[in-house]
Amino acid sequence: MNLRIFATAILLTMASPVTAALAQKGDGQAFLGPPGLPANAFPKPSRPVAEIISPIFDTEANRDGAKETEQVFALMNLKPGMSVADIGAGSGYYTVRLAKLLGPDGRVLAQDVMPNYLRDLNERIFKARLPTVTVSRGEPHDPRLPANSIDAAVLVHMYHEIAQPFAFLHNLAVAMKPGGIIGILDADRQTWQHGTPPALLRCELAAVGYREVSFTTLTGGLGYLAVFEAPGAETRKKPVEVKACPAPG
Ligand SMILES: C[S@@+](CC[C@H](N)C(=O)[O-])C[C@H]1O[C@@H](n2cnc3c(N)ncnc32)[C@H](O)[C@@H]1O
Repeated sequence: MNLRIFATAILLTMASPVTAALAQKGDGQAFLGPPGLPANAFPKPSRPVAEIISPIFDTEANRDGAKETEQVFALMNLKPGMSVADIGAGSGYYTVRLAKLLGPDGRVLAQDVMPNYLRDLNERIFKARLPTVTVSRGEPHDPRLPANSIDAAVLVHMYHEIAQPFAFLHNLAVAMKPGGIIGILDADRQTWQHGTPPALLRCELAAVGYREVSFTTLTGGLGYLAVFEAPGAETRKKPVEVKACPAPG
């Protein structure tokens, strides 16, 4: 066997468990839960929706320097053993930090709608060997997560990109366990400038039946974190009851 063939054989031997594990784990393109209600059951938002332009908000070094995840995790009281969804996970800045915080008994559902972002994220999770993370695909109006499966969800710099926020919030509420909370981090600016004015956010969440738990301006110029409790089956608004909120002036 010449040297090149020998080296290739070694590489293939090393790669095969990797390939097998990747195949086992899937490529993050699958939906985890059955479809929820369709987008057209709800009114359209009466304000612009921002375009999806990037899988990350800022460099990880800058965000770590501002202690972003430490602030968010403390304000949401996230603890080891919880099941937490990273909705709009992008390149996984929150996903990997959540996996560390939640520990071996916790679970992270890292979800996005962009197939190319999901492919890269799946690779990152595989390389980092994070067995408690599941990467999955959602639809713009539906996170497609299993019912009653999540203690908390983080939605970071993505709310303004949700094409159908009312259907999305309704379908997300179905995935939450009783008393489950969502934390929305965003900038206080107009939706077309990749932010969400707090009054608009409160109106849209209340329209579906979410209850505000806290609102905090983060330190380090990171924007705000608004925490809401998801409505259970009894308090969730029926699609016909949901009214779009006035566009901010
Ligand atoms: C600016 S990136 C932020 C990524 C990550 N959360 C962070 O903080 O770095 C916004 C992400 O939200 C995703 N996104 C947009 N609309 C979505 C939707 N309806 N459901 C799930 N993800 C969505 C985009 O594909 C993109 O990855």
